[in-house]
Amino acid sequence: MVNESFWVDHDDFSLEIHNLSYSFIILCCLRIYVTLEDDPEIPAIVKYFNTKGRYEEVNPFLIEDILAVNRSILQFPAAQCQEIHLTAIIRHGTRYPTSKNIKEMQQLYNIVLHNASGEESWLREIQTQWTMWYTEDMDGRLVQKGVNDLKHLAVRLSKLFPSLISEEKLRGGLIQFITSSKHRCINSTLAFKSGLQKLWDIKDQEFDHTVNDALMRFFDKCTRFVQKVNNNPSAVIEVDNFKQGPEMRRVQEKISNRLRVPYSLITHDMAEAAFYLCAYEFAIKTVHSPWCRLFDEVDAQVMEYASDLREFWKRGYGHDINRKASCILFHDVFSRLHKAASENKSGQQVTKPVTAQVGHADTLLPLLTLLGFFKDSQALNSTNYAAQTNRTFRTSHMLPYAANLILVLYDCGGGDLRLQPLLNEKPVTFPGLVTSRSSMPLYQNVREHYGELLQGCDFENECQLFKHPEEV
Ligand SMILES: *[C@@H]1O[C@H](CO)[C@@H](O)[C@H](O)[C@H]1NC(C)=O
Ligand SMILES: *[C@@H]1O[C@H](CO)[C@@H](O)[C@H](O)[C@H]1NC(C)=O
Ligand SMILES: *[C@@H]1O[C@H](CO)[C@@H](O)[C@H](O)[C@H]1NC(C)=O
Ligand SMILES: *[C@@H]1O[C@H](CO)[C@@H](O)[C@H](O)[C@H]1NC(C)=O
Ligand SMILES: *[C@@H]1O[C@H](CO)[C@@H](O)[C@H](O)[C@H]1NC(C)=O
Ligand SMILES: *[C@@H]1O[C@H](CO)[C@@H](O)[C@H](O)[C@H]1NC(C)=O
Repeated sequence: MVNESFWVDHDDFSLEIHNLSYSFIILCCLRIYVTLEDDPEIPAIVKYFNTKGRYEEVNPFLIEDILAVNRSILQFPAAQCQEIHLTAIIRHGTRYPTSKNIKEMQQLYNIVLHNASGEESWLREIQTQWTMWYTEDMDGRLVQKGVNDLKHLAVRLSKLFPSLISEEKLRGGLIQFITSSKHRCINSTLAFKSGLQKLWDIKDQEFDHTVNDALMRFFDKCTRFVQKVNNNPSAVIEVDNFKQGPEMRRVQEKISNRLRVPYSLITHDMAEAAFYLCAYEFAIKTVHSPWCRLFDEVDAQVMEYASDLREFWKRGYGHDINRKASCILFHDVFSRLHKAASENKSGQQVTKPVTAQVGHADTLLPLLTLLGFFKDSQALNSTNYAAQTNRTFRTSHMLPYAANLILVLYDCGGGDLRLQPLLNEKPVTFPGLVTSRSSMPLYQNVREHYGELLQGCDFENECQLFKHPEEV
């Protein structure tokens, strides 16, 4: 069972569905096949939802206490280390499906209503009780759960880094907020700020944020990326081939068998719509929807791969320009680090101790790729699904709603500066950078490690269409 404390509000954050646990107590006693390990409230395939997954899935201790932090995960190299600067790059919280996906969900719902037959209880539940409550105008907007995602994240970060994300710094204007112009990002930024304001009961002051699409939506501004990848079907040929391939065909067949509809009705888009319905019902309302019954675990793994494959070719290692498009954000982050480091070294106050930047999965993934995270030895493609079973490139683990990459600069005395990266609030190591097991890397070593990018990686150069002689 989901622990009651998840629903019970800490600072009256969310009290929407607090009766749910109670109703499931009755349900589970009737369902004799439920084993102790299976939580009937959580779909078995929940860990395969890619970028539609809950943040709680990557940090399961949050299910019990959404404000829990464990400061001992921060392994200080020595007690005298103090954090002097923090940059957080954060994806917006849980959102509604886009209008394109909603149209497809509507189409699948019609098929299930009019063409499916069968006596199974889950099928009858979809046909008689479930209603198509998504409307096209919801188009990707932040939902209440998404507001809570960011409020809770803000409170946890203030507990994790109390000297930086503090009331004094917020009031002093030392916490800078930058956001993408998309409504879901602006509302996520507002939610993050309100989480802090509520925590410290600040009512007499408002805090600004800056909209900056050049930084947070660089993927729209990088002409070369837009033309060579985003608007170019041949850039994702592997994805199309996988969708036509035997693994996906089998998933579609199994869905059409479960619904007893002709195979021709269950296209790849319809399979995807079914997967989204299961994922969104859980992400938005935390309900285990009957739509989830259209997939077993093997099917979910295939759906997960199709989506990872797409991210790989559209935002990840598939094409070099995907990562290079984020050069502008990379330099923004590292120039702030540089400034903070030199200010501290030269005896000045750090002028920008904290920056929170809110964007998209499409913002984070190219940057993670640029930094070398989650790179497998083989590229993901349409024919190596089985060989990629243990790949590290898994958006379900990397990019749930409210995913975040945090860089913290520490001063450890005598000019000994260190840089700790955290992904989704867990310490990670910079790929390829060797450090002794128990310590975070020297800031100087990180700069050397990324020296080539620091010297080059010029957004203007990388992103213009011509001037790439090898292609002329
Ligand atoms: C906190 O993290 C440390 C180090 O990972 C671990 O040993 C400890 O059990 C955790 N404590 C709690 C309460 O989860
Ligand atoms: C699905 O149901 C609709 C509405 O009843 C009907 O017009 C259509 O022919 C059916 N399609 C198939 C393939 O059975
Ligand atoms: C953002 O928040 C405002 C004010 O709370 C609300 O009116 C608006 O509908 C929200 N927009 C989205 C996209 O969630
Ligand atoms: C640099 O940061 C450390 C840790 O906060 C602090 O003790 C030290 O005074 C700072 N140096 C200056 C010159 O501000
Ligand atoms: C996919 O990658 C594997 C190596 O992992 C390679 O052997 C295979 O030829 C590739 N398939 C395609 C279609 O490129
Ligand atoms: C994946 O890892 C499991 C467990 O370590 C191992 O048994 C399996 O052979 C691996 N699969 C592939 C394709 O490498």
